[in-house]
Amino acid sequence: MDSKSLINTERLPKHIAIIMDGNGRWAKQHGKHRVFGHRNGVQSVRECTEAAAELGVEYLTLYAFSTENWNRPALEVNALMTLLVETLGKEVDTLMKNNIRLKAIGDLSKLPKRTHKALLDGIEKTKDNQRMTLVLALNYSGKWEILEAAKQLAKDSKSGKLNPDDIDEEMFSNALTTAGIPDPELLIRTSGETRLSNFLLWQLAYSEFYFTAEFWPDFKKESLYKAILDYQNRERRFGKTSEQIIN
Ligand code: IPE
Ligand code: IPE
Ligand code: MG
Repeated sequence: MDSKSLINTERLPKHIAIIMDGNGRWAKQHGKHRVFGHRNGVQSVRECTEAAAELGVEYLTLYAFSTENWNRPALEVNALMTLLVETLGKEVDTLMKNNIRLKAIGDLSKLPKRTHKALLDGIEKTKDNQRMTLVLALNYSGKWEILEAAKQLAKDSKSGKLNPDDIDEEMFSNALTTAGIPDPELLIRTSGETRLSNFLLWQLAYSEFYFTAEFWPDFKKESLYKAILDYQNRERRFGKTSEQIIN
């Protein structure tokens, strides 16, 4: 049996987050420039989006560009920003056909104008779609996001809009860029690295982590099914004992 048919669709993660890593090493393996790896990574984005939507996953968040990624060579940063514009231009129709809503998290105003515009256009066009939400993390940093939320809550406290003693987890979550989106049950990182790289620090507090050595351009539908199956074989205890969970 293939992995897909083994998945229990009653126990799917509602939200899967992926750190798409290893494009550069994949390109090197093929004797090509890093940008070739990014270009080939787009096909994995397509496949995983389609596979997640077909299964019934509600949210898929993809880490596409971190605030730290600005420190890469300008040529690579520019190529990534261009690739984003190109891909958004090409894929919005597919998102419409598949009834997928696009969202973005991160400090979007700092993106190049045309990238920002392509993104906002895509978000606007797909805003009423309901099958799945695809969230792109762009110029995203978990620490940045937490600081922004803290600043906003501090301002609201100072202006009297809010009593600081009322700040609880729910209010804090709602001040983050992911407001309204449930925390990911499953985090996947490709390429063998086992770190968070400043991704969704608050939201991943109790997520299951799945690491695979596959480079992102090699991560296709079957790889996603395997990750979900691995997730479904785990026992999420949330501090309780195993006996409490089973009974
Ligand atoms: C992930 O692949 C894509 C981005 C971070 C934009 P990398 O470009 O980090 O690939 P490696 O890690 O250098 O192989
Ligand atoms: C994390 O990958 C960011 C994205 C996948 C967009 P990196 O390749 O930038 O992370 P580090 O540098 O290995 O921590
Ligand atoms: Mg990397």
